[in-house]
Amino acid sequence: MAKVLIATEKPFAPVAVKGIRKIVEEAGFELNLLEKYTEKSQLLTAIADVDAVIIRSDKIDAEVLDAAKNLKIVVRAGAGYDNVDCEAAKAHNVCVMNTPGQNSNAVAELCMGLIIYGLRNFYNGASGRELAGKKVGILAYGYIGKLVAKYCKAFGCEVYAYHPRRTDEQIKADGVIPTHSQEELFEKCDIVSVHTPSRPENKGCVNYACMSKIREKGIILNTARKEVFNEEDLIKVMNERTDIKYITDIQPACHEKMVAEFEGRYYATPKKMGAQTAEANINAGLAAANQIVKFIKNGDETFRVN
Ligand code: 3PG
Repeated sequence: MAKVLIATEKPFAPVAVKGIRKIVEEAGFELNLLEKYTEKSQLLTAIADVDAVIIRSDKIDAEVLDAAKNLKIVVRAGAGYDNVDCEAAKAHNVCVMNTPGQNSNAVAELCMGLIIYGLRNFYNGASGRELAGKKVGILAYGYIGKLVAKYCKAFGCEVYAYHPRRTDEQIKADGVIPTHSQEELFEKCDIVSVHTPSRPENKGCVNYACMSKIREKGIILNTARKEVFNEEDLIKVMNERTDIKYITDIQPACHEKMVAEFEGRYYATPKKMGAQTAEANINAGLAAANQIVKFIKNGDETFRVN
C-alpha cells in the first residue's frame, strides 16, 4: 500500500487535511501527518518510508531526499517550488510538482487588503488616500498578478503590467496596459505589486533602478519572495524617497532595520499569510492529493516541474 505524507511546518486548515485524507484513502493509500514540526530530524524520520509527500514551504533538500528511500513524488501544494532542490530530486529519481493557480485568489485578496492598509497609513488615524483612480502596476503577470489586476480594475484603478514572456496583446486582452521594462512600470505607477517567482535569474531583480522611479507617495508591495528584492537597494530607496512605503508578506533579512528606521512607512506581516485561507488550503491540498493518486496509479506527470 502506497504511503502519502503531509509534512507542513505551517499546517493546512483541518478541513483541507480531511479532504486530502479522503482522496488518499479512497485510492487505497495510507496517509501520515507531520504538522508544526520544529526540527529537520522529525521530517527525516517521517519521510523515511513514504512514497509521496505533500508540502508547503517546507524544505526538501538532498539530505531529506537521501533519507526518503521510497520517495517517488513531492507535490508542493502551492505555486513557488524554490524550497525544493529540483536537481537533487531528479538525481534521486523523484518527480516534483506544484499546484499552479490553486492558492492565487488568497494571495490576490491579501494584496488588496495590504494596498488599502498602506493607503490608509496603517490605520493610524491620519487622513489617508483612496485606491480608486490610482495607477497600479503588476510586476509578473501570472495567476496572482492577473487577479490583482482584475480586483484593482473593479476598484477603478488604471492597471499596468510588465511580464517578460507575455505579448502586449495577451496583456491588453484583460484591459491592462502593457509596459516594456520594470523601470517603465514603476515610473508609471502609484502602487506596484510584485509577483516575480524566486528563480536564480530573478535574484535581486527588483533593484534601485526600478524602485527609485515609483510615482510620488508610491507603495511597493511584495507578496512573492524576499529573494527577488535587492535589500541594499530597498534600504537606499527608502532613505532617499521618504514619501514611499514598502509593504511585504515576507519579512526581509533587514526586517529589524526596516522596523527601526522606517516607522510608518514599512509593514511586514508577522508570518507569510498570502495562501493562509481554508479555501486556498482546500484547493491546493486536494489538487496535490489528486496529482499524487494519478501519478502513482497512472504515471500522470502533468504539473511536473523538474
Ligand atoms: C506559494 O508559493 O504557493 C505561496 O507562497 C504560498 O506558500 P505557503 O504554502 O508556504 O503559504
